[in-house]
Amino acid sequence: MSPARPGDPDGNMHGDERARAAWLRERIEAANHRYYVLDDPDIPDIEYDRLVRELEAIEAAWPELATADSPTRRVGAEPLKAFAEVVHQVPMLSLNNAFSEAEVAAFDRRVREGLGREDAVVEYAVEPKFDGLAVSLVYRDGEFVQGATRGDGYRGEDVGANLRAIRAIPMRLATDAPPAWLEVRGEVIMLRRDFERLNAEARERGEKTFVNPRNAAAGSLRQLDPRITARRRLSFFAYGIGRIEGTTPPATHAGVMDWLADMRLPVSGERASVFGVDGLLDYFRRLGERRAGLPFDIDGAVYKVNRLADQDALGFVARAPRFAIAHKYPAQEELTLVEAIDVQVGRTGALTPVARLRPVFVGGVTVTNATLHNQDEIERKDVRVGDTVIVRRAGDVIPEVVGVLFDRRPLRDLVEPLHPPYRLPATCPECGAPVIRLDGEAAARCANGLACPAQRKQAILHFASRRAMDIEGLGEKLVEQLVDQGLVHTPADLYRLDAATLAGLERMAEKSAANLVAAIDASRGRELARFIHALGIRNVGEQTAKDLARHFGALDALMAADIEALIEVPEVGPVVAESLRAFFAEPHNRDVIEQLRAAGAWVDGEARVARAGGLAGRTFVLTGTLPGMSRDQARARIEAEGGKVSGAVSKKTDYVVAGEEAGSKLAKARELGITILDEASLLDLLDQGERHA
Ligand code: IVH
Repeated sequence: MSPARPGDPDGNMHGDERARAAWLRERIEAANHRYYVLDDPDIPDIEYDRLVRELEAIEAAWPELATADSPTRRVGAEPLKAFAEVVHQVPMLSLNNAFSEAEVAAFDRRVREGLGREDAVVEYAVEPKFDGLAVSLVYRDGEFVQGATRGDGYRGEDVGANLRAIRAIPMRLATDAPPAWLEVRGEVIMLRRDFERLNAEARERGEKTFVNPRNAAAGSLRQLDPRITARRRLSFFAYGIGRIEGTTPPATHAGVMDWLADMRLPVSGERASVFGVDGLLDYFRRLGERRAGLPFDIDGAVYKVNRLADQDALGFVARAPRFAIAHKYPAQEELTLVEAIDVQVGRTGALTPVARLRPVFVGGVTVTNATLHNQDEIERKDVRVGDTVIVRRAGDVIPEVVGVLFDRRPLRDLVEPLHPPYRLPATCPECGAPVIRLDGEAAARCANGLACPAQRKQAILHFASRRAMDIEGLGEKLVEQLVDQGLVHTPADLYRLDAATLAGLERMAEKSAANLVAAIDASRGRELARFIHALGIRNVGEQTAKDLARHFGALDALMAADIEALIEVPEVGPVVAESLRAFFAEPHNRDVIEQLRAAGAWVDGEARVARAGGLAGRTFVLTGTLPGMSRDQARARIEAEGGKVSGAVSKKTDYVVAGEEAGSKLAKARELGITILDEASLLDLLDQGERHA
């Protein structure tokens, strides 16, 4: 029994609590909408938690105040044994697809013909095709009462308990006049960031990861335990309505979407209205450009005739509407077979396993290879020869194996033996040297350095590459031959090649040989930054090479620099400094550099330190009054030449500049034997500094 409260204003028992609970529910739902739908929270998390706890406390004390649509009901429901079946009152049909502009034009033509308005320009509501799973949400008198998957379109599974756990889905429609019955249809998705987080957590626990956000969303929604769904962070976008009673909906699809948004249902901000085929294709292109940057995956655009009366007039063919179509982007993921796993040895000796694939068209190109990154990745995904895998190529990113379809494996095992788990070789496939993997490094490396032909080839290719020495025409096939035939061992050998030798190589004619010699010749005298980059020192990329060139000005200065001097370069840390030191300490590298110097491969520049002034590293102390300049003027000129002015005399002081009435500082300087300057000698020193710079 709940305690009766005296002084209840309207005569109800605990009317205050009732009003408070209603207010809390509304406030929490509004906060959910701001947070999960608008991505614009209006109260801090801690305040939100406080409101939920207060509502929980009221509902615990007065159970009759707990409503079915209370936000406290979102989590904590008991696991189910199985999902109940839900019959869709209006079937959930699918969409026909268009893969080309011609197919879109044909769709528009059919629409105009179907409406008997062949010459009209049709208005379409357009929106992303979300890559998730379709669900139906039923609101009775504004309250969420049922949620189901699409299933076969006629019968779905009752996943209401799980849909409650999605905070983007309102438990009560935000309207004073809710329809008696409203079925909202839309897509449950997982945002990319939530997907990444989920997989990162799974990885940490050593569990299997999901291959993509759609699988993660589907796997999370079809959980018998709603508490698991609640932890997974799903999102939802409404894209239409099913059965509706007690209200006349707006006359257009765009109007319906706005109406749903007003009731706090999440609808995509990417939706729009356009006219005719041109409008459709223009939207498709613009959405395509935004695709990679969206927080969720889409696989196309959906076009719907905007006027609902026109939709009704057009009706359905078979299982798809005539009034709508999905215009798909080229798939970014496809299934294919791993035919072999090879190993490539990179410039730094890193062994990269590469899956050789049965050719597959994905992301707009035919893919035959995909990187498997390293041993850890292979183990995590357990990719083996003969496996059916999902290959992904998104945008310009190099193709990768997303995951294995393990359920295809046992079947295969009956026909042919299963390949064992893949292991990187213990010796370099190119030179046979041992492969080592350092602690904390993901990559296993061939320990043979430039004695390994594979590393040598990569080093030379890098040296010649566009952003390094930019030697045009020196490609992979050519470098391969040059190294294999022993014509080139180091980049310095390039400058000794002659046209006659080159013309003897495969696929080389006299003309191309002469061109290459000219291109190599033209690369002499490159600026220092390019040359440093071209050396291919580990951890020294293009930008670091520029920083080093600017700082040291000359290669000899860089080579002579110790760790301390190196980390003085802004942006250079201990790791880069150590890489540089190790590289220049190597006699072989010094030898190659000397040969390149003789070939005139680079020209030194001017160091910024030198330009900054000849007094760099010198410390001055000013004392007393100078006859011709103020102390501030003196300080400014010293600093302009790179010197430092300090307030106190110590053993580290190089010069004390003393004027009239200099006191204890002058005495201290004499005591320590520090050079004492008057104004005239300071000016001399400053002049010399300028001349040196
Ligand atoms: S409208 C009768 N709009 O695509 C038409 N569907 O192939 C009902 N989908 O099962 C669908 N985004 O899961 C529509 N903006 C969107 C959509 C969308 C994704 C999915 C939905 C549906 C499938 C149809």
